[in-house]
Amino acid sequence: MSGAESPVRRARREDRDEILSVVEAAFATGENDASEELAIVRATWESRALLGDLELVATLEGAVVGHVLVAMGSMAGAAVPGVAPLSVAPGHQGRGIGSALMRALVERADAAGLPMLVVLGSPAYYSRFGFEPAAPLGVVYPPAGPASPYFQLRQLGAYDPARRGEDAYCWETP
Ligand SMILES: CC(C)(COP(=O)(O)OP(=O)(O)OC[C@H]1O[C@@H](n2cnc3c(N)ncnc32)[C@H](O)[C@@H]1OP(=O)(O)O)[C@@H](O)C(=O)NCCC(=O)NCCS
Repeated sequence: MSGAESPVRRARREDRDEILSVVEAAFATGENDASEELAIVRATWESRALLGDLELVATLEGAVVGHVLVAMGSMAGAAVPGVAPLSVAPGHQGRGIGSALMRALVERADAAGLPMLVVLGSPAYYSRFGFEPAAPLGVVYPPAGPASPYFQLRQLGAYDPARRGEDAYCWETP
């Protein structure tokens, strides 16, 4: 990344208030009040689906300026790790912090032996981290539609192309 260095580390419980502030600031734009993204983060924290080693923060001078997490969703009875909101505080965007978080996330997920990561987001952004449209690989997120380019998949070392089906995030399943 360019500009100031932003250490990426595992999130801790005591980071949570700062994390919520970053999520809210990142997503509260225009007509969006960020309540949906805040609810997703809170619900994931309450869920056993959260992969604690894959909840990361980026810090600058000790303050949390970026956050991302991974939680196990489900697809055809199998667990599928999904990336939930990626947030960078507005004053720190465009300086490589989101990229540093995503690169670290992909590296750690691969090292942990996960087969893939799924994400719902901008293909223009996530393609730079090796994500590709999931639908041609047989992985579909029904709320996004059957062939949405926004629902993407990152193949990791343990990827198995036989894993196909309809994905659900952890906060959507009982
Ligand atoms: C999206 C976000 C996480 C990116 O983090 P960041 O630290 O600003 O990103 P980086 O500095 O690593 O990368 C900047 C690049 O991403 C691009 N980018 C930023 N947001 C983008 C978006 N929503 N769609 C496509 N490209 C985007 C920038 O144009 C820039 O491109 P360039 O490198 O070609 O100049 C951050 O802008 C953010 O929190 N936005 C609000 C919340 C959000 O939309 N989260 C993502 C949900 S999919």
